[in-house]
Amino acid sequence: MNLLTDCANGQCGTCTAQLVSGEVELDDYDPSVLSDDDRAGGSVLPCVCRVDVPCVLEFPYDSSEALSEQPPPLTASISHIAQVAEDAVRLELQVPEKVHFEPGQYVRIHVLGSDITRSYSMANVPGTDRLEFFIRLVPGGGFSTWLQGAGTGDSVEISAPHGSFFLRGEDRPRLFVAGGTGVAPFLSMLRALAEAPLPARQPTTLVIGARTPGHLIAMQELDQLKAKLPQLSVHVTVEQGDSPAAHHGFPTDLIGRIPIDAGTRVYLCGPPPMVEAGRRAAETAGLSRQDVLCERFT
Ligand SMILES: Cc1cc2nc3c(=O)[nH]c(=O)nc-3n(C[C@H](O)[C@H](O)[C@H](O)COP(=O)(O)OP(=O)(O)OC[C@H]3O[C@@H](n4cnc5c(N)ncnc54)[C@H](O)[C@@H]3O)c2cc1C
Ligand code: FES
Repeated sequence: MNLLTDCANGQCGTCTAQLVSGEVELDDYDPSVLSDDDRAGGSVLPCVCRVDVPCVLEFPYDSSEALSEQPPPLTASISHIAQVAEDAVRLELQVPEKVHFEPGQYVRIHVLGSDITRSYSMANVPGTDRLEFFIRLVPGGGFSTWLQGAGTGDSVEISAPHGSFFLRGEDRPRLFVAGGTGVAPFLSMLRALAEAPLPARQPTTLVIGARTPGHLIAMQELDQLKAKLPQLSVHVTVEQGDSPAAHHGFPTDLIGRIPIDAGTRVYLCGPPPMVEAGRRAAETAGLSRQDVLCERFT
């Protein structure tokens, strides 16, 4: 059985499941990926669970994903790499076959000859043999350090796509909230909507936040998407510095300040504290927890 995991030590929230019956003890975990409220509501992190009595857990993905054999990794080579903001790189990988996934999902990238394997969300549309990523350079980080010395032609291995944070095919308004490179899965979703055979007419709002104007990424790509998607509105926030078109503060500050329809589905993607702040803001704005999907970049 292949349950979805990433960090395997309670730091990312990827494995989150719902305890239906029984009891579990949790070893140490990051409270920003599982809040006390979540815990009280029955959410658990199976990667740090100790189980002494029979219990039933419900996972937010289809059982076929856990029971199927994992396909072998694909070898991919870097076809393009460039720094696109103060702390972010755009990476393009050429893969030997078309990769099919749900817009918003991620793959695990393994640096050959090392023990470094990290998760990154595709920004491209599904079904192509070129995968596009926006990756924040984390000071001292293993993958980040490797990436700064990497060049065209270097090879990596990529896993099959994973994740339950993907665009739902629902006829309801959407609010996407991204912190930094958290915009990557939303680019994939918006590009998929722009290519949909029938125009998706429900209003879609994207709020993208960055530390300073120099940390903003993919603004040109978003301008192109706005031209193709009349129902899309984009708001930008920066924490420091001046940018005429940007609000001051965090992207989650805008939840509740912009009009939100009661039937809105909220998607939050970025650092865990931003995601938690977004969930609280969505609740304050009158939405329920079931209306909010989260992806934490840990
Ligand atoms: C589902 C998912 C999707 C994701 N998608 C994206 C994406 O599209 N774009 C993106 O930018 N990120 C994404 N991430 C985050 C990404 O997977 C990595 O966590 C991130 O890039 C950092 O990796 P790294 O190897 O550079 O840093 P790591 O090596 O993991 O280090 C992280 C931090 O820990 C510190 N550290 C490392 N080793 C030590 C040590 N021995 N002692 C003390 N401190 C240490 C580092 O200095 C750094 O600050 C995603 C994460 C998940 C879970
Ligand atoms: S895999 Fe369980 S919290 Fe990361």
